[in-house]
Amino acid sequence: MHGKSKKQNGGAADARHKVMNRKGGGRLVVLSNRVAMPRAGQAAPGGLAVALHSALNARGGIWFGWNGRQAAHRPATPQTLSRDGVEYATLPLLRDDFNDYYQGFANQVLWPLMHCRLELLRYRRRYFEAYRRVNAWFAQHLAAMLKPEDTLWVHDYHFVPMAAEVRARGFRGPVGFFLHTPFPPLEILRAMPPHREFLNLFTAYDLVGFQTEGDRHDFVESARRDTGVERSGRYRIHRGPHVLVSGVFPIGVDVHEIADQARRGRHSRQLKTFRRGLEGRRLIIGADRLDYSKGLVERCHAYRNLLSRYPELHRGIVYLQVAEPSRTEVPEYREVRRRLDQIAGEIIGEYARFDWMPMRYLSHRMRRATLLAFLSVASVALVTPLRDGMNLVAKEFIAAQDPDDPGVLILSEMAGAARQLKEALLVNPYDVEGVADAIAEALAMPLPERRRRWEAQFETVRRGDIHNWSDRFLGALNERSATAKGSGA
Ligand code: G6P
Repeated sequence: MHGKSKKQNGGAADARHKVMNRKGGGRLVVLSNRVAMPRAGQAAPGGLAVALHSALNARGGIWFGWNGRQAAHRPATPQTLSRDGVEYATLPLLRDDFNDYYQGFANQVLWPLMHCRLELLRYRRRYFEAYRRVNAWFAQHLAAMLKPEDTLWVHDYHFVPMAAEVRARGFRGPVGFFLHTPFPPLEILRAMPPHREFLNLFTAYDLVGFQTEGDRHDFVESARRDTGVERSGRYRIHRGPHVLVSGVFPIGVDVHEIADQARRGRHSRQLKTFRRGLEGRRLIIGADRLDYSKGLVERCHAYRNLLSRYPELHRGIVYLQVAEPSRTEVPEYREVRRRLDQIAGEIIGEYARFDWMPMRYLSHRMRRATLLAFLSVASVALVTPLRDGMNLVAKEFIAAQDPDDPGVLILSEMAGAARQLKEALLVNPYDVEGVADAIAEALAMPLPERRRRWEAQFETVRRGDIHNWSDRFLGALNERSATAKGSGA
């Protein structure tokens, strides 16, 4: 993965990281539930892996996390693999831990909570116990690998307790946390029984990063109101002598890698075959993990509404929905799959003719290069989550467009990306008629307006790309720890 990204565009980013490395010193240690293991000969994976790899590669470091598997016994040490000065270290989960920590606390408590879906919350005490247990176990191995001058960067809700755990094991270096999902308002957070303990766990970090100002605000307000912490300014939280700084770091994509892959993909055989099948019809595309937060069923209702209210569009459009199965052992995910299968079937049953298929629905993982090529030729992208931390498909769609003939992004106001991509057609994903009208508007939009909107969005996506995101976060963490050392906090 790295060979390719570095060759094409990673040079400048690596140079930046090297400068930062000299300033910050020490290695970078990344912790995330999923670890993007390097695999020889494979195309570059998503932007997060590219950015983290580029930061790790520049400073040297470790990427630590779950190996995605279950085991009957806990191994004595993590499995490791070294590549280009980076060590990848992974652990499996015991069956009970997989059920109670990952399926239970991560997927059936924190995920619905963060996405404000209290009717889907399935709290059990043993889930939270497993969360603490797994974090303690990972911390034990992490602490054994950490050197005093290292910087630790923890990703996402799976590992909120990690700062407290490694501090308890004597690590004194900078520890930062980035939340990829939204943070819920306090009234929602309170539905989780151990919400105070959960909030308190954040306060052991030096820096906590959020996708949007709204997420940061909800976090700081929740901590202030329901834990004993003091606040200074709008963004700093004090617990005794320790200061936690909160920041906003909207995650981006690897713009050049995407534009490059899309450009090449437009000439691929697969795309040519796909386009032949379209027979000149205009493509409306959606590409998501099959998750209830993505608003896929609501989106299909909107498309059905479009077909019923705009018959003149019949035969001129095709809606392709790519929905990659996810967390398939969790009942709520099986249910959303069932509902999506049903409504897609209904749309096809109602509107398909022997010479026109109004919708295509692919429920499997698609190769990244193929997906980017499909995004790049779509007239309209539907990114309509009910709630989303950022949504990188929105940014990938913008990065993949042909500047001479760009498509139109229809974006949910509930996605973090809507705070930045203001020139998209912004919609409320619950408003079936509103989304249908937006699709009709996008299809009718003249080229100069499409270009104007796309150029503004591309500039936003380019300026805040994934390398800029990791640079900004790590820069803020270095600065925070330098200040803390200076003040003794
Ligand atoms: C979201 C989360 C990630 C998670 C990913 C896939 O993007 O923010 O932390 O890794 O979904 O979900 P999974 O449960 O398969 O790791």
